[in-house]
Amino acid sequence: MKLRIAELPGDGIGPEVVAQAKKAIDAVCKRFGHEVSYQFAKAGACAIDEFGDAFPESTFKTCMESDAVLFGAVGDPRYDNDPTAKVRPEQGLLAMRKQLGLYANLRPIETFAALVDKSPLKPELVDGAEFLCIRELTGGMYFGEKGRLDGGDTAFDTNIYHRYEIERILKLGFEYAGRRRKHLTVVDKANVLESSRLWRQIAKEMEPQYPDITVDYMFVDNAAMQLIRCPKFFDVIVTENTFGDILTDEASCITGSMGLLASASIGEHTGVFEPIHGSYPQAAGKDIANPLATILSAAMMFEYAFGLKAEGALIRKAVAASIDEGFVTEDLAAPGAPVYGTSAVGDRVAELISKI
Ligand code: IPM
Ligand code: MG
Repeated sequence: MKLRIAELPGDGIGPEVVAQAKKAIDAVCKRFGHEVSYQFAKAGACAIDEFGDAFPESTFKTCMESDAVLFGAVGDPRYDNDPTAKVRPEQGLLAMRKQLGLYANLRPIETFAALVDKSPLKPELVDGAEFLCIRELTGGMYFGEKGRLDGGDTAFDTNIYHRYEIERILKLGFEYAGRRRKHLTVVDKANVLESSRLWRQIAKEMEPQYPDITVDYMFVDNAAMQLIRCPKFFDVIVTENTFGDILTDEASCITGSMGLLASASIGEHTGVFEPIHGSYPQAAGKDIANPLATILSAAMMFEYAFGLKAEGALIRKAVAASIDEGFVTEDLAAPGAPVYGTSAVGDRVAELISKI
């Protein structure tokens, strides 16, 4: 198969971790006889520097002409403490999601037996926890009307959702639950928010179409507690954009490192595969960032964008093997055990892909 991948490494550690994912992709393509090509494009602070735009038209075009987007991270400390900045690297990510119609962000949470001690939670709570967060990605407060009033002293963001937006994401929630343990948790704040009441109303309307699925409804504050109190309760979580952003960072604690969480953003046009961690500027260029989340995002790319399950599974197997043998970056290394650099871990995973 011919695979055209748009490569958008972005800022900070983005380029380093994307380079490691490419090693894994190349190794798997070599093994299975696929022909892969990469189209490089800029997004985030690096694109602002060159084009004055965090998601330039040329980058959009490259994405549209590709079968999948491999994305690193965006963000730059130059903008973080400047609330007056007119252009921001994060706008590039949001523009990409919106323009590509990527309304669903799939964030699987899985634990690796060798890493249960890395989680701040008790091992017996996290060992075996495995669930999927489905975050709505192109609506809600992120994209609703926002602005300032009163000469700047009043600010607002509008949490707006239309029926079609809710229906399509809930449909995915029911479908993924149907392929898994048939348990869907709809997370909202229906005791307070009108938009959440519409989510809940629509979910209830849809329930009869999926009689084999157990659905429960949880307020987001309670969900935040249950996630760390009993993560094994969950199978599929579906929720709105803002709640999903917050809950998935929280959920990353279950796995032991944010450096392990992959994601797939899918919808109308080319899907984007990216780690959930940010650009981690303090680590940029130091060869210390954990590349596994991006490598696991590449595994999701094979499964979701190309429908190549065996290829994705092989990448996962190689990642698990590298963890088992302790070939990991500092965030995952056991006390006193050797620590490997970003690039060495990338080489090792690619090597494991070629030989296991
Ligand atoms: C994420 C990130 C982004 C978000 C930021 C960088 C805009 O936190 O992908 O979770 O809030 O969606
Ligand atoms: Mg986030």
